[in-house]
Amino acid sequence: MSLTSASTHHLTDQVAQFHLRFPIDSDDLDQDQEWCEFRIDGEDDWSRIRFHNYHEIYEVPGLYEALFYQCLKCCSPYRVVQLLNDVLMDDPHHMEDLRVIDLGAGNGMVGQELRNVGVQKIVGVDIIPEAREATYRDRPGIYDDYIITDMTDLDESTRQHLRTAEPNCLTTVAALGYGDIPTDAFIEAYNLIDTPGWLAFNIKQDFLDDMEDDTGFAGLVRKLMRKKYIEIHAYRRYCHRLSIHGEPLFYVAMVARKLKPI
Ligand SMILES: C[S@@+](CC[C@H](N)C(=O)[O-])C[C@H]1O[C@@H](n2cnc3c(N)ncnc32)[C@H](O)[C@@H]1O
Repeated sequence: MSLTSASTHHLTDQVAQFHLRFPIDSDDLDQDQEWCEFRIDGEDDWSRIRFHNYHEIYEVPGLYEALFYQCLKCCSPYRVVQLLNDVLMDDPHHMEDLRVIDLGAGNGMVGQELRNVGVQKIVGVDIIPEAREATYRDRPGIYDDYIITDMTDLDESTRQHLRTAEPNCLTTVAALGYGDIPTDAFIEAYNLIDTPGWLAFNIKQDFLDDMEDDTGFAGLVRKLMRKKYIEIHAYRRYCHRLSIHGEPLFYVAMVARKLKPI
């Protein structure tokens, strides 16, 4: 787990205080139904938490990091940002020149990784206020601005506000599909960034397979490529994290150049 930044060293002790236990008779649980119980060191009571109830997880300092990053070995913010960094080095472009919208920013893990590789301007966007509160609490200063809005229903003043940041890069990590960010919200965010611009995102591998996909992302990505809206610069399959049974959950990280608006 990356907790190296000076602004987050205080979290290390909080992350260490959690005891976690997982259901053993739950083979048929899909990723968005997974849950666990946690107990804080020195306390007797266990609390149950569903992974998709992000607002409850963000409210407990260090729980998101302990559960997803330390226990289930999530590496996606690091992997997606490193892939973007690699592509820009080959292109060549400078991370320092990026002005990023981080969609589904959560408690700021992606913003932190972007800062680690030199990005100067980052605007976070999330639908739930608890995400911004957790970011301000645990990673203060990581985002220049953090907007709470539903990207599926963006009003004109928020759209204009986001445009004033003159974004030229969109990141979205662990947030597409599964009842989180649907295709129309992705398209809305895509259209906010400059042309040409950069996209760096990940998505569950199954969602890129037409037979498995009910999110619409398989068709959208294929269409964007075929009609030359985007040019793929990197495509990397990797283990996003482990399931509660210790099985690898494979995602694909993609970095693409936006060539024209949709
Ligand atoms: C699994 S978290 C990922 C957080 C962060 N990107 C990371 O990698 O740690 C998904 C985030 O997407 C946010 N989200 C879901 N639907 C959204 C929407 N329609 N608009 C903006 N954010 C949304 C959730 O509130 C949640 O914080």
